[in-house]
Amino acid sequence: MKGFKERQNIKTDIQLLDDLIIRGIPRDSFIVLLGEGGTGKSAILGELCYNFLKKGEPVIYVALDNSPPSVFSDIKSLGWDLTPFCEKGLLRFLDCYSFRMKADYDEKCVTVLREPDDLPNFTDKLVSLMDELKMNDNGVVLIDSLTELMTLSDPSQVVESIKNWRARGSKERNVLFVSTLHYGLKAFEGFADVFDYIVDGIIDLRYDPTYMASDILLKQIRIRKIKGSDHYTNWVNFVIQKGGLKPLIIEAKKTKKINSRSNPKNKNSKK
Ligand SMILES: Nc1ncnc2c1ncn2[C@@H]1O[C@H](COP(=O)(O)OP(=O)(O)OP(=O)(O)O)[C@@H](O)[C@H]1O
Ligand SMILES: [Mg+2]
Repeated sequence: MKGFKERQNIKTDIQLLDDLIIRGIPRDSFIVLLGEGGTGKSAILGELCYNFLKKGEPVIYVALDNSPPSVFSDIKSLGWDLTPFCEKGLLRFLDCYSFRMKADYDEKCVTVLREPDDLPNFTDKLVSLMDELKMNDNGVVLIDSLTELMTLSDPSQVVESIKNWRARGSKERNVLFVSTLHYGLKAFEGFADVFDYIVDGIIDLRYDPTYMASDILLKQIRIRKIKGSDHYTNWVNFVIQKGGLKPLIIEAKKTKKINSRSNPKNKNSKK
């Protein structure tokens, strides 16, 4: 249509995600990574952070759950050093954690928000950082986590802010947003449904329920929805290790054969 830019679909450079999201994520998306604690949400954000910086795109990391130095170290332990990108001014932390403590950070890399519950001010800071980093048709904003923001502020106001960030970031500036949300917190149960319709994409993370019954925590990921892109919806097993997210293939067939041979019921049924 006249006056409308053609939509750009982008790869995350995380092989497993790119295999599942067939035509890539539309750049003007607001995506939520939704899962229980420890399923790998922050590690995936860390990998996205490095991948976008590596290809020269600016990144804003909104740190709510953890301090910027800790995020920095967590990403380093996955194998990626963010120091050169901070020095180049390509990476900025919007620090909504350190208001709790004394902190003396390099202002070039970290902007501390002393009152992150002041959501209009939060939005203003986020928009001015996007402008400073010239985020237009490029870059990514990573938010870890929306759950923490809901504990700091009124959840319905947080939902309003997310609608504003999606409008002013994803849609107006064509900037990808990826945020995390903790699944299963009773206090915010009603809001999970709201996120279902206000965001463009939901990526679910969980522990495989069958293995969990045997006390084994097997991480799984699936693409629940991505507006404007074809994708697979099956659960895929994965591990997180140095080097990031990797698929985990379990040879189920072999196990089945052994089970059916050793299961006397199966022998009887053949007869
Ligand atoms: N650097 C690393 N090296 C190896 N494994 C890691 C590394 N970082 C994370 N992991 C693995 O990934 C798991 C998930 O970590 P992560 O912090 O990403 O979970 P999360 O979903 O963000 O949890 P929460 O909801 O508590 O924030 C860890 O328990 C660990 O098994
Ligand atoms: Mg986390």
